[in-house]
Amino acid sequence: MTMAASLVSLALALAASAHAAQPSAPSPKAAPLRNLQWGQLNFLHTTDTHGWHGGHLQEPSYSADWGDYISFAHHMHQMADKEGVDLLLIDTGDRVEGNGLYDSSKPKGKYTFDIFKQQDIDVLCSGNHELYKQSSSENEFYKSVPNFKGNYLASNIDIHNPDTDKFEPLARRWRKFTTKNQGIRVTAFGFLFNFQGNYNNTRVQPVQDTIKEKWFQDAIRDKETDLFLVVGHVAIRSEEYDALFSAIRGEQWDTPIQFFGGHTHIRDYKKYDKKSVALESGRYMETIGFMSIDGLNTGGKNKSSVARANPTFHRRYIDNNLFSFYHHSQTNSTSFPTERGTNVTKAITSARSAMNLDDTLGCAPQDFWISRARVNDSSSIFQWLGNKVIPDQLNGDTGSTKSNPKLVISNTGAMRFDIFKGPFTKDSEFLVSPFTSGFRYIKDVDYSVASRVLDVLNSGDQMLKNLDPKLDTTMLSPPEQLSVTVKDTRSLDSNSLSQWKHSLESALHADGLQSPLSKPSDLTPGYTTVDDDGDQGDDTLHSPISFYRVPNCIQSSIGFDPKNGTTPEKVDVVYNAFVEPWIILALKFLGGSYEAKDTLDYMGGVTQTKVIADWVKKNWPCEKD
Ligand SMILES: *[C@@H]1O[C@H](CO)[C@@H](O)[C@H](O)[C@H]1NC(C)=O
Ligand SMILES: *[C@@H]1O[C@H](CO)[C@@H](O)[C@H](O)[C@H]1NC(C)=O
Ligand SMILES: *[C@@H]1O[C@H](CO)[C@@H](O)[C@H](O)[C@H]1NC(C)=O
Ligand SMILES: *[C@@H]1O[C@H](CO)[C@@H](O)[C@H](O)[C@H]1NC(C)=O
Ligand SMILES: *[C@@H]1O[C@H](CO)[C@@H](O)[C@H](O)[C@H]1NC(C)=O
Ligand SMILES: *[C@@H]1O[C@H](CO)[C@@H](O)[C@H](O)[C@H]1NC(C)=O
Repeated sequence: MTMAASLVSLALALAASAHAAQPSAPSPKAAPLRNLQWGQLNFLHTTDTHGWHGGHLQEPSYSADWGDYISFAHHMHQMADKEGVDLLLIDTGDRVEGNGLYDSSKPKGKYTFDIFKQQDIDVLCSGNHELYKQSSSENEFYKSVPNFKGNYLASNIDIHNPDTDKFEPLARRWRKFTTKNQGIRVTAFGFLFNFQGNYNNTRVQPVQDTIKEKWFQDAIRDKETDLFLVVGHVAIRSEEYDALFSAIRGEQWDTPIQFFGGHTHIRDYKKYDKKSVALESGRYMETIGFMSIDGLNTGGKNKSSVARANPTFHRRYIDNNLFSFYHHSQTNSTSFPTERGTNVTKAITSARSAMNLDDTLGCAPQDFWISRARVNDSSSIFQWLGNKVIPDQLNGDTGSTKSNPKLVISNTGAMRFDIFKGPFTKDSEFLVSPFTSGFRYIKDVDYSVASRVLDVLNSGDQMLKNLDPKLDTTMLSPPEQLSVTVKDTRSLDSNSLSQWKHSLESALHADGLQSPLSKPSDLTPGYTTVDDDGDQGDDTLHSPISFYRVPNCIQSSIGFDPKNGTTPEKVDVVYNAFVEPWIILALKFLGGSYEAKDTLDYMGGVTQTKVIADWVKKNWPCEKD
């Protein structure tokens, strides 16, 4: 395609003032960029945005907002039309929970549905987070599905319709359409992984059962299809997608298949066979995934031209900021903003202001990391939570529990995002820990039993699964860790570091271009993705960040110090409610027989969100200078 230019282009000048984005967003930094390689059919993909439609206000690399994405898509559509190629937009769910823009309003999501719908998305589906509560799934049913008319697909989700008192499909199961410019006939599905934690007003059918249904079998037998498009809130390396791939390939040995996935919050690209690939585009509005396919049949335009397709695929992970957007859409700060995009940016600003999301609770004296530091490091968010916040805030002044020492167990997945040095705002509360489940406890547990619960939760996955297959302990840790590409320690060893430097240097000097950055160490830290197509997928050249595996749960002791040699006879076991089924199962495994009816609200059922916010207010004053 003619729009594909050099591998790496060095965009030197960044317009002095970047117009658009949220007023308090930092300006993106200039960096060497890899270009997009366009094809006949092109895609932009978002996933797991979790309410971050205002962008990242503390990280320049991800500082564009949903309004900017609307302007970007507009220019990309114009470029596609000019070349006579097609562009489709995809979203694969988990749009809710995890950012003040969604979580801080009453009811939750009061502002976000009208913001989100301003983007024209061609195929979208539900994530698991849309289904935890009756209210959130009914929001999909009454708002998102009609907002996107026939484009919302629910191949394996039914919902209880309050109007008819019957279960019915959340949205249509599948759709077939022909692309506007090229006439590519696309058969599309929208799946959710085999999720079981939904509220009882929805039903998620296991993917392996859905693919036996007649409607699906008929759809995949359609020979008048140039491309199967499977979008899903499903990890791209999963049994669910393996089953879908085999089912489609079993019927159509030669038709290209494009998968889009999500849920595990990573950038990843997988090749199933020569004609089938999958893209996953990260999390939290950090990444706009770009995908292109060339060599497809165009049976919607000229049936007699249909031959054996011989597709080629290209992927790119775009950092969500204006520097990247201007570059890829060949615009600048003057020509970039569109009226619709600017309206949405303003709507986000006024929603944030109506909810006072910029109000400061305190100021963090340093950065605290979820997985960029080892869990035992002083910059780990879990050291801070377990050694300071929980002991200070959960020392239980509530009558009957006062006398007993306590073991407090919290799952690491309840912490969703890093804390950056500087203002900790009302927004940060929800970024860091958005969940509404409160703390609960079990009284008077033998210390000999209670003290071993943490070990069982952290290393007894198989034992617990044998007792109850539904209680997979990987659900307790951050979703990023579900990915099989996360090794025990993702920290780069010196060998892979030197490999990275080598590939970076050759990229920087590609086509004889000179770099504005004299050495790799001038790059900003960020994603350096390695996937099935190598290490050249990110649009922005970054220096690498190390990631470390965290345990499923952490524990604090209150009222005694196990290191002091003397241990209590009985303790109260305190935990956030999400972990309760695992706690009860682990106690059972250790010989303690407790049931849900033996559990009580702890300190009024206070949530981790509130525990953290209260501690920050008391302990992190903002220095005046
Ligand atoms: C869901 O569970 C609630 C109790 O938590 C019950 O009252 C309700 O009838 C159930 N709904 C359905 C559709 O099964
Ligand atoms: C349709 O495709 C066939 C085979 O490639 C070609 O010969 C024919 O000219 C095409 N017709 C049109 C209207 O483009
Ligand atoms: C943006 O590009 C247009 C031409 O496409 C040019 O006239 C204008 O001066 C540029 N603006 C900035 C701020 O660079
Ligand atoms: C943008 O907002 C203005 C003022 O509310 C409105 O008149 C206009 O129609 C909006 N434009 C678009 C494209 O939504
Ligand atoms: C943290 O644990 C690692 C590996 O278990 C160990 O090598 C390191 O010394 C520990 N660091 C601290 C600060 O305790
Ligand atoms: C642990 O022992 C130290 C030194 O003996 C003492 O100062 C401290 O108060 C003890 N901590 C607890 C919680 O008992």
